[in-house]
Amino acid sequence: MPCPSRSDELIFFVNGRKVLERNADPEVTLLTFLRKNWTLLIMSSLRLTGTKYACGRGGCGACTVMVSKHDPVSGKIRHSSVTACLVPICSLYGAAVTTVEGVGSINTRLHPVQERIAKSHGTQCGFCTPGMVMSMYTLLRNHPHPSEEQLMEALGGNLCRCTGYRPILASGQTFCAESSGCQQKGRGTCCLDQGENDSSSLGRQSDICMELFAKEEFQPLDPTQELIFPPELLRMAENPEKRTLTFHGERVTWISPGTLKDLLELKVKHPKAPLILGNTSLGPAMKSQGHFHPVLLSPARISELSMVSKTSDGLTIGASCSLAQVKDILAERVSELPEEKTQTYRALLRHLKSLAGQQIRNMASLGGHIVSRHCSSDLNPVLAVGNTTLNLISEEGTRKIPLNREFLAGLASADLKPEEILESVYIPHSQKWEFVSAFRQAQCQQNALAHVNAGMRVLLKEGTDAIEDLSIAYGGVGDATVSAHKSCQQLLGWRWNELMLDEACRLLLDEVSLPGWAPGGSVEFKRTLLVSFFFKFYLEVLQELKRLPPPQTDSHHFPEISDQFLSALEDFPATVPQGVQRYQNVDSHQPLQDPVGRPIMHLSGLKHATGEAIFCDDIPTVDKELSMALVTSTRAHAKIISVDLSKALELPGVVDVITAEDIPGTNGAEDDKLLAVDEVLCVGQIICAVVAETDVQAKRAIEKIKITYEDLEPVILTIKDAIKHNSFLCPEKKLEQGNIEEAFEKVDQIVEGEVHVGGQEHFYMETQRVLVIPKTEDKELDIYVSAQDPAHVQKTVSSTLNIPINRITCHVKRVGGGFGGKVGRPAVFGAIAAVGAIKTGYPIRLVLDREDDMLITGGRHPLFGKYKVGFMNSGRIRALDIECFINGGCALDDSEQVTEFLILKLENAYKIRNLRFRGRACMTNLPSNTAFRGFGFPQGTLVTESCITAVAAKCGLLPEKIREKNMYKTVDKTIYKQAFNPETLIRCWNECLDKSSFHSRRRQVEEFNKKNYWKKKGLAVVPMKFSVGFAATSFHQAAALIHIYTDGSVLVTHGGNELGQGIHTKMLQVASRELKIPMSYMHICETSTATVPNTIATAASIGSDVNGRAVQNACQILLKRLEPIIKKNPEGTWEDWIEAAFERRISLSATGYFRGYKAFMDWEKGEGDPFPYYVYGAACSEVEIDCLTGAHRKIRTDIVMDACCSLNPAIDIGQIEGSFIQGMGLYTTEELKYSPEGVLYSRGPDEYKIPTITDVPEEFNVSLLPSSQTPLTIYSSKGLGESGMFLGSSVFFAIADAVATARRERDVAEDFTVRSPATPEWVRMACADRFTEMIPRDDPKIFKPWSVPIA
Ligand SMILES: Cc1cc2nc3c(=O)[nH]c(=O)nc-3n(C[C@H](O)[C@H](O)[C@H](O)COP(=O)(O)OP(=O)(O)OC[C@H]3O[C@@H](n4cnc5c(N)ncnc54)[C@H](O)[C@@H]3O)c2cc1C
Ligand code: FES
Ligand code: FES
Repeated sequence: MPCPSRSDELIFFVNGRKVLERNADPEVTLLTFLRKNWTLLIMSSLRLTGTKYACGRGGCGACTVMVSKHDPVSGKIRHSSVTACLVPICSLYGAAVTTVEGVGSINTRLHPVQERIAKSHGTQCGFCTPGMVMSMYTLLRNHPHPSEEQLMEALGGNLCRCTGYRPILASGQTFCAESSGCQQKGRGTCCLDQGENDSSSLGRQSDICMELFAKEEFQPLDPTQELIFPPELLRMAENPEKRTLTFHGERVTWISPGTLKDLLELKVKHPKAPLILGNTSLGPAMKSQGHFHPVLLSPARISELSMVSKTSDGLTIGASCSLAQVKDILAERVSELPEEKTQTYRALLRHLKSLAGQQIRNMASLGGHIVSRHCSSDLNPVLAVGNTTLNLISEEGTRKIPLNREFLAGLASADLKPEEILESVYIPHSQKWEFVSAFRQAQCQQNALAHVNAGMRVLLKEGTDAIEDLSIAYGGVGDATVSAHKSCQQLLGWRWNELMLDEACRLLLDEVSLPGWAPGGSVEFKRTLLVSFFFKFYLEVLQELKRLPPPQTDSHHFPEISDQFLSALEDFPATVPQGVQRYQNVDSHQPLQDPVGRPIMHLSGLKHATGEAIFCDDIPTVDKELSMALVTSTRAHAKIISVDLSKALELPGVVDVITAEDIPGTNGAEDDKLLAVDEVLCVGQIICAVVAETDVQAKRAIEKIKITYEDLEPVILTIKDAIKHNSFLCPEKKLEQGNIEEAFEKVDQIVEGEVHVGGQEHFYMETQRVLVIPKTEDKELDIYVSAQDPAHVQKTVSSTLNIPINRITCHVKRVGGGFGGKVGRPAVFGAIAAVGAIKTGYPIRLVLDREDDMLITGGRHPLFGKYKVGFMNSGRIRALDIECFINGGCALDDSEQVTEFLILKLENAYKIRNLRFRGRACMTNLPSNTAFRGFGFPQGTLVTESCITAVAAKCGLLPEKIREKNMYKTVDKTIYKQAFNPETLIRCWNECLDKSSFHSRRRQVEEFNKKNYWKKKGLAVVPMKFSVGFAATSFHQAAALIHIYTDGSVLVTHGGNELGQGIHTKMLQVASRELKIPMSYMHICETSTATVPNTIATAASIGSDVNGRAVQNACQILLKRLEPIIKKNPEGTWEDWIEAAFERRISLSATGYFRGYKAFMDWEKGEGDPFPYYVYGAACSEVEIDCLTGAHRKIRTDIVMDACCSLNPAIDIGQIEGSFIQGMGLYTTEELKYSPEGVLYSRGPDEYKIPTITDVPEEFNVSLLPSSQTPLTIYSSKGLGESGMFLGSSVFFAIADAVATARRERDVAEDFTVRSPATPEWVRMACADRFTEMIPRDDPKIFKPWSVPIA
């Protein structure tokens, strides 16, 4: 129990300044400490909000800081990147913390890392940027000239949802030792050698630019300028405090003994207290699973636990050594010893490269890893088969136990006693004729827990292939690491051959049995991996045997591996992406000062990189501010019987609980209530909200609210069930042309099929946040919100509170990513917080945890599509009938519009004379799905493109031939009878085929596939015709307000919101061209409903189009007014003219307005002009799949996109790359999992995998196609925000191509149900083979599955 005595002083440094905390609370993390107004003795006025909160579980890297500590063993200072959200402040005694603010500032000196990431266009919304900066900065502190491999490793734990990583890596590569000027050098092809390619329609070489930033301008890295390790801490480290330090918090006591003896004594006194090291296992469990430990023992200051000793037979590593240290130690040992002795070490290293991200590897300890016995532990299976021994110590003395299956199963007889601790770990050398290996398969290569992993070891009788000893352990297939002990025993004496392989697979599947309902799901996939891994091991050993002396007797000969099988042995490399970005240079006559068309850096780029860019939750706490936390339904469909708030209201700090009864005005829409009344329609529906003095108190209080439900029927989760129950949100939308029935009768062949496209979580890095400040006068409210549509927030708050709109001002400074998820939902949070603010009279801050954000807000609509396609043997499609159903969730939201868009855009690039497209939005008991980049297009068009592939397969032709054959060729009309000229579409397509050398690579892929059985390559190219804009006229308008002040400075405001897409930068480029003054004269402060009213959402790719025209209009009005003055004094300066204008009483403020496109669509007639213009593009991707594991590598992607006259090629290429990678995530790794009760399992970066830095194609080329004029848009530019998303499907189709090749080779039917995402599970199971055949299959009717597919 915590003792009431006084706490010791906690001493550490932040950015070179001393922190002396007298009341350190062990439950406070470094992230909270830095961000909140914590009482810091010396730096009490600082709020270091550069370090961001995005997941709170160590999974995203947004909170990365550098921690420097004196290492008592080496005597050196060790700099480590760590995730501040998992670092308890009490663990920092004697440490120096460097945050992004300590690295550099725009006001003092920028660090080269900060300068380069901004100038290389590595920031969009900027929310991930401080974390990226800190990971790179730490790398450079340790390695001033890192290798590219080290750079990849350093950034592997940092997620970015906007940029697609390529420009971030490009900035890092400028520090790398081997980095060359051209990003393609090193692969033998320099972009500058590619002159012949550039004689194509991209224009002459001189018109084409391939540099987006000028490297020569970068300041050099000067390591002598860095902050030194504080001398005071050095002195402390040299004379270490031996006394036990104790920190008492409100609920938890942290005890940090200075000696091993004291630690052992304390362990006797507190046998249940865990040892806390990296906190990467304890921390997430305390946060998400409600684990609570009143006492924590920290062994961090005990050097005995960090010792490493090398002996002639093995290696002993201290339990406190971090996994990063373990990696270094093992690598060193591998370089010193003969290969035969390092089998286990190399197997461990194989996993240590991909285990979590660098930050977690820096924090997590070997002891913590072993003792926490995570069921997916990557190291325990290898350590177990490697005969590892655990050296334990207690007051009683020392003891050794084996890290064996009993220990892993947690048997008391084989485990640590409560008073014991793990002192060190002994890993023996391997011996001759012994082979050890490690395998893992996760959703993606890096930073993802394995679905299944394994450690395998065999000892063969010397000189033979007879098994003398065999150990196999698996992770991910049970509650703990599972040992296949019985199977191994039965195989002793067997020879290492095919017979043994078959028997082993049979035994393993029998012993490691997974029930059909096993937690985590993917049961058949996991079973297949069990044997696929063993097969890989079998081959690996055979391969190793080849290098040993041949067997002594004739009867013992090692089986040969066929050359075709060798590819099964190779792991996919994690390579640094290379590539070229091509864009059209501005006209040589364009004045230098005119920034339009130039790759100008994002206006906030440098501030993103220094952490000085302010996001919603970075706004300092305001007077009397309260925090809000939301209470959500745990039932998918139920009647609310009672809500008992009493226990919550009794808790300290709790001020009030807001329920529907407190809403003075309208409680949302009839089908979409802000706060539930009587009934809930999904898990995650908001029922009430607690208001408390702190967010911690508010969150603790929600646990105490007791809600009684009565379950209602039916509970509909899947599209199939919705169709069965006739449960729809809106009427069917339909478009038809030609005579489809007649056409079907005249075709050579007809194919029918199904396509399932899973949903997608927005995963904007900044979760939903709002701060509502009520004013004392006139019921006014100021609302600071992270939103794409502040006017909608304003309107919703007005109707909720029943006060006029003019009393409410919404402010949006910048948004940390939106992607459609911040169009509608912020209004809900704004309105609930506003009710709280009005009821209590105090400001309310509501910051959603990642888990809640993912649970509540919904995302992209999952889709189920059925198609029937009729075609001639030549591949010409004559009739196409597609019916789509989307899963809309429990409320209408945008589902009707998404259905409409889906149907309107379904034809993509193809002219098919007889068409019928139908779409319906299903109503289910899931959170309402909403707008998401592409708005139905990425899902729907996957159905169309799947038809093409199906036709190709039936005709025996390549899909690209079918695509070409059916593509629009001449000026024509779309299915909704809008005129359309395909010229640019065809140019993009041809350019893409040309740039990607498609045809020659197709031949190479075929060659590769012939030679390799277990690895297959796939190649695909997809065309795109994407219509931008909303199909409603009222959305095509915008306004801007521009003030010129008497010093000549200009304040620009407009109706668009800065979401990272660089709209503010583009608007100043426009204003600069129009007013003919440099951008440095101008400023954009924020988007506010008080300056530009009645704005439309910044969405549908047209933000810059419409706002640009409004800004242009305002500038032209102002310039017109200034004309007489300029005429009178043509030699005068801008300042002279402004001064004169003021003197002459000329208004220096103007509103610009743009009345845009008149969109209309008559659904009755099936015709209209719904979209102002199209964006065209094409993408070609090549992948390689591992048929045994389902993993894939992206070898190359070439994108050609029609940007017309880009306002800013750096920003536009950034949008294309970012959306492409996001699309790739949709189609390959992002998978939402729901329980049969409708509970979303995937609620954080651990379970939901967005692409990481290792997912970027190894070669990634983007070309902007110079194009003709588009009169409707500003300077003929095009909106590129969404279109790239669909091009990510080129990776999907390349994977499908590879899978189809594998199936053909295995004589399995080629037409298989298309499912997106093409996860490793889907790929592995689709590549049916002897291993998928041997696994037991379950009858899904006899058990309740762990998860249900909702598409
Ligand atoms: C984002 C993230 C990603 C991850 N990805 C992976 C992955 O890909 N693969 C993988 O295998 N793992 C992964 N992990 C898990 C990670 O490896 C473990 O959480 C980590 O190794 C635990 O070490 P720790 O020092 O943080 O333990 P802590 O959380 O500090 O402690 C864990 C437990 O170990 C006990 N303990 C610690 N040291 C001792 C000792 N000396 N003697 C006795 N008991 C002790 C403690 O009492 C406690 O119960 C991930 C974790 C996170 C947060
Ligand atoms: S917020 Fe810390 S890792 Fe995501
Ligand atoms: S810039 Fe990386 S998350 Fe937005």
